[in-house]
Amino acid sequence: MHVLNQLFENNRNWAKNIVEKDPEFFKKLLNQQSPQYLWIGCSDSRVPANEIIGLAPGEVFVHRNIANMVIHTDMNCLSVIQYAVDFLKVKHIIVCGHYGCGGVEGAMDNRPQGLVDNWLRHIRDVYQKYEITLNRVTDLKRRSNKLCELNVIEQVSNVCHTTIVQEAWKRGQELAVHGWVYGLQNGLLRDLHVCVRKADELSAIYRMAVDEELEEKE
Ligand code: CO
Repeated sequence: MHVLNQLFENNRNWAKNIVEKDPEFFKKLLNQQSPQYLWIGCSDSRVPANEIIGLAPGEVFVHRNIANMVIHTDMNCLSVIQYAVDFLKVKHIIVCGHYGCGGVEGAMDNRPQGLVDNWLRHIRDVYQKYEITLNRVTDLKRRSNKLCELNVIEQVSNVCHTTIVQEAWKRGQELAVHGWVYGLQNGLLRDLHVCVRKADELSAIYRMAVDEELEEKE
């Protein structure tokens, strides 16, 4: 009974504070959630979705995994996207990476790390795609930051290519996909200007975002 008592105490205080501010808060949430946003972010404990964007429970639907990946065969992530798009009718899907991402840095490191290597393989594929540009960046921190950004752009493209998002656009559903990066050092979000609102916008916007990355001065 004495296990993790502190967390239960924190929880009681948290619920109490919320009810003090709004006595109906939990009652209102009980019947339905109607978030406008789906957040696809990294599992990293320093990147908590709700806090960063200042949203309360009920306002953002969240999927997190190592290095905010959207893999075409990942039923977990795809199910979250489908539920968010088809049932919750979110208006925005935000893929948010972060600088200093352990997953991205791990993917740049060739030392074996066990099971997780199978997951990191997808980031290594992104690295391979942009290998010439990335290898030109001699500072390793800057190189991993660039890979974080390119990875977000690739994952935005993956979200847009899912049958779920394609079908939603086809039936005229309002849905925008965004790519952001979060700075652990200052708590600020950066927009990578890869916002896609319909199927035929994707290739031009993707190309522009990637070109911007590749041309950027080191
Ligand atoms: Co991370």
